[in-house]
Amino acid sequence: MMESIPILQQAEDESQAAFLRRFARDVLHGLSMPRKGLPCKYLYDDAGSRLFSQIMNLPEYYPARCELEIFQTHKAALTDLFGGPPLNLVELGAGDGTKTRVLIGQMRTKKTDFTYVPIDISRAAVDCVSDRFSRWFPGLRTRGITADYLAGLKWLSGQNHCRNIVLFLGSSIGNFSARGREAFLKNLRGAINTGDCVLTGFDLVKDIAVMTRAYNDAEGITAAFNRNLLTRINRELEADFDPGLFRFYSTWDVAARAVQSYLISTCEQRVHIGRLGRNFDFSAWEAIHTESSHKFTRHQTRELAARNGFAVEAEFTDSAGYFTDCLWRAA
Ligand code: AVJ
Repeated sequence: MMESIPILQQAEDESQAAFLRRFARDVLHGLSMPRKGLPCKYLYDDAGSRLFSQIMNLPEYYPARCELEIFQTHKAALTDLFGGPPLNLVELGAGDGTKTRVLIGQMRTKKTDFTYVPIDISRAAVDCVSDRFSRWFPGLRTRGITADYLAGLKWLSGQNHCRNIVLFLGSSIGNFSARGREAFLKNLRGAINTGDCVLTGFDLVKDIAVMTRAYNDAEGITAAFNRNLLTRINRELEADFDPGLFRFYSTWDVAARAVQSYLISTCEQRVHIGRLGRNFDFSAWEAIHTESSHKFTRHQTRELAARNGFAVEAEFTDSAGYFTDCLWRAA
């Protein structure tokens, strides 16, 4: 019952080459800025995705636990609001499935007619999550899509007349800039049909110590996750970063309302990137920004919905009040 549909690339090789060109261009751009930075989407190669799964299980990383609690507590109310079948349960970004498993379990118990549609830019990630769900739920209809989120959704919405339930979990929305977030939601609204649902996870603002601890875990997994980006650049772009010469640092940014993550060069050094044919100089204590993890107020989530063409159907929050999953309907 499992199909996987690569809709964007004709040949896997071709997209691989295109990906590398874009990666090289983004790294060149990011390291040429007066304040150096690298796009956080490149944190997720195979090694990075494994480290990310470990982060999800860290005692300090509360968002994963909170969202799982929300699903376990409210799975019946949540899935009842999805509306009548047939449904496409669409997931943006193929994770390890821990949280989605709870919703699917509930829908199977209720004998809801639905297809699970994970969308991810990585073919391997789509295949992996499809395999896992087929093992957990024998006979589950799965239709993985290898594509950019919005392109995948747009294609799907034009394909059939199922109601789409789009999951965008884990506060992934927090990685966008303020402008990027609005643009994404506007495009998301445009890519689905009126009456379709979006379930978005938002990490809420809270005690600063709690938020920053989530990125400063005792085991140093988050640091390894960030340093792995340099290892990836070494391998894929023929660079000579010494990850040991960069210290991971993350801090609360009051103005942006975000945890900002950095890799900071502990000495003056020059790095060569072969594929770019260029050197990059670092002063001692110069930083590379690696990730923004924005946090939200409830009021802000409602404004985001209203501004971008969604009606708020329900909000589900964990017992600590740390995290909220908002169910929106495309108006
Ligand atoms: C998946 C983007 C929500 O920003 O908290 C976890 C990624 N980075 N630890 C986040 C992440 C470091 C995570 N998001």
